[in-house]
Amino acid sequence: MTRAGLLALAALALAAGGAGARADTSHAEAVMTPGGDEIAGILALEPDLGYGAYLASDCTSCHADAAAEGIPRIRDLPTGTIVAALVDYRRGARQHQVMETIARRLGDEEIAALAAFLGEAD
Ligand code: HEC
Repeated sequence: MTRAGLLALAALALAAGGAGARADTSHAEAVMTPGGDEIAGILALEPDLGYGAYLASDCTSCHADAAAEGIPRIRDLPTGTIVAALVDYRRGARQHQVMETIARRLGDEEIAALAAFLGEAD
């Protein structure tokens, strides 16, 4: 198979992998840094803090202010860290059954709002 053919296949696999995969996955850079474009795109959104506060009520049942057994504290993590973690769970690059299920229900706007509300600007 040609190199271009391989790249196209890789782009297809990427597009199929992430629920929020961007249309522009044929871009060679997206193939080489999977997730990077997605994270940058979310960080570029104008987050809605009120929406983030509303959505975060679904998270605090597990993520309390103090870390618990197996559950990390997420409040005040850098915003970029929260976005990256949620994108990675959403596309299955970071595996954890519960968090993957939760992240797959979140759209880009929701991840941006949650990360802005929960996190600290970095
Ligand atoms: C049912 C319990 C539960 C709920 C609800 C939950 N989480 Fe999690 N979360 C976890 C656990 C357990 C982990 C650790 C998973 C791992 O080891 O990768 C985690 C990990 C994370 C991480 C990675 C933290 C780090 O230090 O790398 C982020 C970010 C996160 N959750 C955000 C959220 C957000 C945002 C919500 C709400 C939309 C949410 N979680 C709801 C249990 C939960």
